[in-house]
Amino acid sequence: MASFAIGAAVVLLLLPLLHHQVHGGLVGIDIKDCDVSHGNWVFDDSYPLYAAPSCPFIEKEFDCVGNGRPDKNYLKYRWQPFACSLPRFNGSNFLSTYTGKNIMFIGDSLSLNQWQSLTCMLYTTVLGTKYTLVRKEGLSTFTFLEYNLSVSFSRNAFIVDIVGTPDGRVLKLDSISAENEQLWLQNDVLVFDSWHWWLHVGRKQPWDLIQVGNQTYKDMDRLGAYEKALTTWAGWVDTKVDSNKTKVFFQGVSPDHSNATEWGDPQAINCNAQTEPLPGPDFPGKPHPAEQVLEKVLRTASRPVYLLNITTLSQLRKDAHPSVYGLGGHRGMDCSHWCLAGVPDTWNVLLHAALTQN
Ligand SMILES: *[C@@H]1O[C@H](CO)[C@@H](O)[C@H](O)[C@H]1NC(C)=O
Ligand SMILES: *[C@@H]1O[C@H](CO)[C@@H](O)[C@H](O)[C@H]1NC(C)=O
Ligand SMILES: *[C@@H]1O[C@H](CO)[C@@H](O)[C@H](O)[C@H]1NC(C)=O
Ligand SMILES: *[C@@H]1O[C@H](CO)[C@@H](O)[C@H](O)[C@H]1NC(C)=O
Ligand SMILES: *[C@@H]1O[C@H](CO)[C@@H](O)[C@H](O)[C@H]1NC(C)=O
Ligand SMILES: *[C@@H]1O[C@H](CO)[C@@H](O)[C@H](O)[C@H]1NC(C)=O
Repeated sequence: MASFAIGAAVVLLLLPLLHHQVHGGLVGIDIKDCDVSHGNWVFDDSYPLYAAPSCPFIEKEFDCVGNGRPDKNYLKYRWQPFACSLPRFNGSNFLSTYTGKNIMFIGDSLSLNQWQSLTCMLYTTVLGTKYTLVRKEGLSTFTFLEYNLSVSFSRNAFIVDIVGTPDGRVLKLDSISAENEQLWLQNDVLVFDSWHWWLHVGRKQPWDLIQVGNQTYKDMDRLGAYEKALTTWAGWVDTKVDSNKTKVFFQGVSPDHSNATEWGDPQAINCNAQTEPLPGPDFPGKPHPAEQVLEKVLRTASRPVYLLNITTLSQLRKDAHPSVYGLGGHRGMDCSHWCLAGVPDTWNVLLHAALTQN
């Protein structure tokens, strides 16, 4: 069975024995039963999919070539699943399929990374096409005017709400505001992401208290809090999203390479000066605990939610971070975000495959 097409999501709901038993609401991106997340990175001289200088609105933090990164091989790897081939990204096809539609990325700066990748991938296939890029508070909206297509990014690190109260800023693990709901439901495609901010403490922690129901806590186990918030979100998808109109994706957890011990390299400290991917398919370190929580929660959703299962394939790319070729002096070593062109382009190849194939 081609369990791949978006249209097939409805079919999956009708075939609980085939899929629900294993996956619940979690829908993998499969092509004819090929798991596209199982594969390795191969050198491909036709890569990258675009040249960063052709993307005039690229942000400095992702523009590694522009920031003077000297090695270029990291641009040349293509993700190759073992059991099938991914369709090459076809921007014209994407633009014509999504004419008149609205796509929104909701999440932290890894979501920004993927949003920017997609806008560059699309823009560079129709170089010179008219666009507007409007930034308003936490919302950036890129509109391809000739296609009446908007691709926007809403900055939202936790998905659930943070509200100011007399006692301080409260992270409400069981609440999604009506305002966000209204913003999100206007879209035909939603791509969520959340993880990295859940670990912040001290000055970088943007809340003072955590609330669940009528209980407030000074702190709690962060993975546990993440699970509660994702469960709230999954319940929201189940009750509020019309799956006939809006396709829902979750960007799997994006790994960082801040600690070379995790992949067993005694020569390296972190991603600095790494120029080659790890040989696939398996990452030598432990499974990512946040990704395990995410998959567990997605399995409980009753509406189909597509997982962009990017964790392992990205774990193999210790070479693909900005390191000192991002914001450099401002942020120091960046082993969390990804150079563009680069790894998030592959996340969008998976998104494209899910959105445009039948
Ligand atoms: C995600 O991909 C990894 C690597 O191929 C695999 O081990 C894992 O089972 C996948 N998760 C899901 C939910 O398909
Ligand atoms: C890309 O998609 C367009 C429009 O659907 C199609 O005409 C074209 O042949 C495709 N290009 C490739 C290389 O597949
Ligand atoms: C553009 O798309 C919106 C939906 O996002 C639709 O309401 C509007 O009529 C479209 N405008 C044109 C000129 O097609
Ligand atoms: C908190 O809510 C629970 C169940 O909703 C209720 O039984 C309990 O009395 C409430 N506690 C307080 C302090 O309001
Ligand atoms: C989606 O559309 C189908 C067929 O029109 C309908 O039976 C189903 O109830 C709809 N689902 C939702 C969630 O509205
Ligand atoms: C790096 O990872 C190893 C293995 O997981 C761990 O023992 C070590 O404490 C980590 N180092 C830092 C600085 O976090």
